[in-house]
Amino acid sequence: LLSACALSGLAHAGMIDDAVKAGTLRVGMDPTYMPFEMTNKRGEIIGFEVDILKEMAKAMGVKLELVSTGYDGIIPALLTNKFDMIGSGMTLTQERNLRLNFSDPFIVVGQTLLIRKELEGTIKSYKDLNDAKYRITSKIGTTGEMVAKKRISKAQYHGFDNEPEAVMDVVNNKADAFIYDAPYNVVAVSKFGAGKLVYLDEPFTYEPLAFGLKKGDYDAVNWINNFLTQIRNDGTYDRIHAKWFKK
Ligand code: ARG
Repeated sequence: LLSACALSGLAHAGMIDDAVKAGTLRVGMDPTYMPFEMTNKRGEIIGFEVDILKEMAKAMGVKLELVSTGYDGIIPALLTNKFDMIGSGMTLTQERNLRLNFSDPFIVVGQTLLIRKELEGTIKSYKDLNDAKYRITSKIGTTGEMVAKKRISKAQYHGFDNEPEAVMDVVNNKADAFIYDAPYNVVAVSKFGAGKLVYLDEPFTYEPLAFGLKKGDYDAVNWINNFLTQIRNDGTYDRIHAKWFKK
């Protein structure tokens, strides 16, 4: 059976073949991550990563379906076939890579801090927050949470389901700092915290963001990596990047 399949060239190769056959690429994401995936006033999911995914579906000749999924359940949802891949600003960590395959990164970010205005000057880096008197917030299941627990372990930590709640805890003086990916904090400081938050913009982690795939789906890794090389070199990536990130 195996050789008949291999000889005829019809071996099933993974999620790319599935999506082409179905006519739809299903991508799991938690659309709370500005400016990568977020919901506009009309209820549509838009953003930098969404635009890359639209190009990807176009190149595949299929429709794009975005499947909203809470971040802390997104890996199990991929593994139980709720969608074909994860496209959710996911940091390629070695721990996650034990459970998933990843494409090449499409951007690199790092953790940064939004602190209470009153702490300006007192807190100059994440190290200054490593004290039981400080309370830090982030989003459940993210690298912000992992980094807070690992590298600022003496501080109190409180995780929230959504980023805005975690930021508002600091705006309302209930917490001292929000730890999160730099691109999100750039948007959040002007959106929620004008005059109330101070942005410590020096990233202190190295975090490649990549598309998450089922383990063993090397065909998908190959197709997506070649797609990324193409859009990086034909101007598509730069055009999309310029649209969402102001210089
Ligand atoms: N890069 C961080 C992580 O992988 C945060 C991603 C959050 N993504 C989202 N769609 N809310 O944990």
